[in-house]
Amino acid sequence: MPFTRRSFIKATGASVFLPAITGRAWAAEGGAPLPIPEILDLRAGDTGALTAQLSSAQFLQGRRTQTAGYSADYLGPVLRVNRGETARVQLGNSIAEPVSVHWHGLHIEGAQDGGPHNPINPDTTFDAALDIDQPAATLWYHSHIMGRTGAHVWFGLAGMLLVDDPGAMNSGLPDTYGEDDLPLVVQDRIFDGSGAMVYTPRGPSLMMGYRGNEILVNGAIRPEASVPAGLVRLRLLNGSNARIYHFHFEDGRQFTQVGTDGGLLSVPVGMKSLTLAPAERAEIIVDFSDGAAVRLLSGADGNSPMGGGMMGSMMPNPESDSSGAFEVMRFSVNSGLAPKVSTLANSIAGAPAPDFGAPVRRRSFRLDMMGGGMMGMMGGGGQGMSINGAPMDMAVINQQVKLGETEIWQIDAAEMQHPFHVHGTSFQVLSNGGTAVNPATSGLKDVVLVDGKAEILVKFTRTADAASPYMYHCHILEHEDLGMMGQFTVAG
Ligand code: C2O
Ligand code: CU
Ligand code: CU
Repeated sequence: MPFTRRSFIKATGASVFLPAITGRAWAAEGGAPLPIPEILDLRAGDTGALTAQLSSAQFLQGRRTQTAGYSADYLGPVLRVNRGETARVQLGNSIAEPVSVHWHGLHIEGAQDGGPHNPINPDTTFDAALDIDQPAATLWYHSHIMGRTGAHVWFGLAGMLLVDDPGAMNSGLPDTYGEDDLPLVVQDRIFDGSGAMVYTPRGPSLMMGYRGNEILVNGAIRPEASVPAGLVRLRLLNGSNARIYHFHFEDGRQFTQVGTDGGLLSVPVGMKSLTLAPAERAEIIVDFSDGAAVRLLSGADGNSPMGGGMMGSMMPNPESDSSGAFEVMRFSVNSGLAPKVSTLANSIAGAPAPDFGAPVRRRSFRLDMMGGGMMGMMGGGGQGMSINGAPMDMAVINQQVKLGETEIWQIDAAEMQHPFHVHGTSFQVLSNGGTAVNPATSGLKDVVLVDGKAEILVKFTRTADAASPYMYHCHILEHEDLGMMGQFTVAG
C-alpha cells in the first residue's frame, strides 16, 4: 500500500532525504516503447467512470512497484471533452483515504473543481458534470487533498485532459492521437532497491520540493517513441512534484511551440529550448522528416532558495553529462508510418484571442517559505510556507473576487522561483522577473513560474462559493501541502 497514512508516516521517519541511489545493483533501463494512455472519450454524450485505486506496475526489470492510478495501474486515461458540451464522468475511490479529482485548467465552477473541499471518500462516488466552455487546450487532472497532494500525485493519481473545440477553425496541426499527436506526461521519481517508489519529503527536499533521479514519461523510464517522418505534435505536461525541465533535443534542432497551458498560440514560436515548471503544459511541433533518431534532453533544475548550491547538490538528480543535461526520452523514425502533416502555417487558425478589458483592481500575493526561519525549515518542520504571511487554512477564505471583473494579481517570490497556479480560469502574464511579457507568444496560462515578481491579468467566468472555493497556490506540491496556498470565492 504505497500511501496509507501509516506507511507514509513510517517512511518519513527514515533518514532518506538523501536516498540511497549510488551503487544500485539494478540498472534502470530506458528504451521501452512509449506507453500511449487509453482515451476516455466524454464527447458527444459519452459518459465514463474514473476510479482511484491502488495497484502495481512494472517500471524496473524484474520488480513490481506499488502504485496508484485512476482506473489504471499508474496515472489515468487521457480524457477528451468537447467545448459546448457537458462532460459526465462518475468518480469513484477504492482507496482507504479520501482522494479528489481536480480538473487543472478547466474553467469550471467551484463545486465541480475537485479541490480540497470536495473529497471523494472511500467507497463513495461523485457524478461530475463539467460544462466545457473554453478554447481547445491540453489540461490535466490530479488528486488535491489538503496535505496529501504531493503523495497522491507521486504515486500516480494524475492524468491528461484534452479539450477539443469543434466550433473553432481547423488548426492544421497534427492530430492523430498516438501517432503524430503524442501526450507526454513527464515525471521524476525515486525507486529503492526493491523497486518501491520512495516519497519521503523532509528537510531540504521539502524546501526545494521533492525531486527524483529517474525520469518517467507516461509511466515508463526514458521510453522511446516511434514517429512518422513528418511533423509531430508533442503535448508536454510537467507532471512532476517539483522539478523544472529545460527541454531541448540532443542534436540542437529547432522546434516550434504552438500551445501553452490555456490553448493554442496564434503565432507559432521557434525555439531550441523550452522551460516547463511543475503543472505547466506546452504543445510543440517537431520535424522528424530527416529520418534521424534523436534524444529529448533536459537541462539541470537549478531552482533553489538563496542560490542554494549546497542544497542543490543534496537533491537526487538523474545521471547527467558535464553540463547537467539528462535524457528524458528518445525518438526514432518509423518509415512505415505515413507522415500526415509536413508543413506548419505562419499563424494558427482557431487560437484564442483573449480580451481581458481594463483591470479594475490589483491584489498582491507574497509567497513565503522562511516564516519559521531557515533553521526551522532545515529541521524538517516545514513551518513557514505561506502566502501573505498566512499558511493555508481550510476554514479561511482569503480573497473574494467578483465574477467577470478583470484584475491584476501581483505575485512576489523572494527566496526561489515558485510556479503559481490559479484555479477556475486562464490568465495572461503581463510581466515576469521585471520584464514585460508578450501575450502573443506566451498565450493563456494557468501557471506562471514567478521569477522574483510577476504580474498577471485575470478574470473569472465561473463562480465558486465558500463551500467549494477556488485555490491559488504554489504547484511545487510539497510547498502546497505545507501551506503555500490560499482560497477564494467568485461571485456575481
Ligand atoms: Cu494542479 Cu490546485 O492544482
Ligand atoms: Cu488547478
Ligand atoms: Cu513553491
